[in-house]
Amino acid sequence: MRKETVTFDLSVYQSIDHLPEDFGNLLFAAIEALPKAYAPYSTFYVGAAVLLQNGKVITGANFENASYPLALCAERVALAAAASQFPGVRVKAIAVTAKNPKKAIAKPIPPCGACRQVISEIEHIHKRNIRMILGSETGEIYVLDSASYLLPFSFDGDFL
Ligand code: THU
Repeated sequence: MRKETVTFDLSVYQSIDHLPEDFGNLLFAAIEALPKAYAPYSTFYVGAAVLLQNGKVITGANFENASYPLALCAERVALAAAASQFPGVRVKAIAVTAKNPKKAIAKPIPPCGACRQVISEIEHIHKRNIRMILGSETGEIYVLDSASYLLPFSFDGDFL
């Protein structure tokens, strides 16, 4: 038997003003996507912005449904839009933020498990890391060098 430990590093920034310019711009694009969310059921508005290798920024917002489980997360809306508009172009980074009129978002917003799996798939396709900028409304911002940090020991197409 052997034991293994999995750890990861992250950078913590006090606010959007403290981020390096490219990450700040991407998070700002995610903030701008917030009002585009269709979230009448949860009132939890999520904005995501994807930075592509060709310099394009594609945004997305969550899109809910009266049949609740059909809700589409902002991250997957943005990633699917990017993959449709620029197939095969590498994703360099994704920024995510959220807003809820009922409750200030004071901690960096963590992507749900399904979005982590989808982001992992895209890292796997291109064999390159995707930086994650996780924003909040009033609190700190986390920057991770790879989405795989949030989904270690992940399932990918190599198993099939
Ligand atoms: N949501 C996202 O858009 N991204 C996440 O990573 C977490 C959850 C959305 C889905 C739903 O519209 C609302 O937030 C509440 O779960």
